[in-house]
Amino acid sequence: MSKQIKLFDTVINDDEVKAVVKVLKSRFWASGSGTGNVKKFERIFNKYIGSQNSLAVNSGTAALHLALSLCNIKNKEVILPSLSFVSTAHAVMYNGGKPIFADVDPTTLNIDPTSISDKISKNTKVILPVHFGGLSCDLNFIQKLCKDSDIFLIEDAAHATGSLYKGKKIGTHGSIVCFSFHPVKNLAMPTGGALSLNGKNSEHFEKSIRSLRWCGISNREGVDYDVSRLGWNYYMNEVSAAIGLEQLKKLDNLVSIKRNIAKRYSDELSVEKMPFDEDCSYHMFWVKVKKRKQFMQKMTRIGIETGIHYKPIHKMTFYNSKQRLPNTESISDELVSIPIHANLSDSSVSKIIKYVNKFS
Ligand SMILES: Cc1ncc(COP(=O)(O)O)c(C=O)c1O
Repeated sequence: MSKQIKLFDTVINDDEVKAVVKVLKSRFWASGSGTGNVKKFERIFNKYIGSQNSLAVNSGTAALHLALSLCNIKNKEVILPSLSFVSTAHAVMYNGGKPIFADVDPTTLNIDPTSISDKISKNTKVILPVHFGGLSCDLNFIQKLCKDSDIFLIEDAAHATGSLYKGKKIGTHGSIVCFSFHPVKNLAMPTGGALSLNGKNSEHFEKSIRSLRWCGISNREGVDYDVSRLGWNYYMNEVSAAIGLEQLKKLDNLVSIKRNIAKRYSDELSVEKMPFDEDCSYHMFWVKVKKRKQFMQKMTRIGIETGIHYKPIHKMTFYNSKQRLPNTESISDELVSIPIHANLSDSSVSKIIKYVNKFS
């Protein structure tokens, strides 16, 4: 029987192995001391993105939690899509805010600008779009809305490391942009995340995040320090950073391989699907099928792994929101993610295309 085609996969070689062994042997695994990989990762990632500043943390969820903690959202509203991983909404709840779910555009699955406009109220503090699958949202429109109403833009760019918007990397537009380096993401680590900062508040935010990501510790001088706020244990470790540095060298190449696969999907799949865009980094690729359960079962039987990204957050028991989101609700029953990663051979891509067309 032929090997199963995985939905996501990482690309590593001896470089990652050597980098990890070096950190292990150094016996300094936390950041702050030791091999200096976290600091180096921050510097090189920031250069890659082209933002004013980038700070590493231990997950995308941590990045979102920290970002929203800077915006005083207690009892205030944050507008976000329901079609996302739950962390996007949890980050609002961790900070005592109220998630207001907006609908998505049925062709891009990104947050629908009209729906955002409809949901803005005097209590709106933050707009939190997700660049779905790595396809960037209409940031110009959202930036304008924010400017006119004194609202923060925080981007959930968990899918969008390596994506572009209007010729510039995602991470250079909003004042706070949150990345995830979960193993299935474009830049893979065991766990990891980052915040990129831009604009007039960037220095002030940087100082706060440095303290908040390490339990609120501030004014450190030698062994002396103070704690001025409640913070969290969110710093990145040296092993993740060492892997991240190697992955960063491969990133553009891996993204371009995925983009070529997306182009083939776009040209050869006969189902409704994710649009093709040269600026998208294609963290994932979605198609819409009517009989999803049967489709996924048939794909599994033929040896092709598929997934669902996502079930709408507002329908989860914990959120149980009465908000009506017609596009999100109808689309989410039909969404299926199909394999896209740089380990896929041409023949595997042909097999995926053949069977998606046959079974859909
Ligand atoms: C859209 C989105 N936001 C946030 C996250 C959270 O990232 P992490 O898993 O690194 O905490 C994810 C991860 O899957 C995600 O897909």
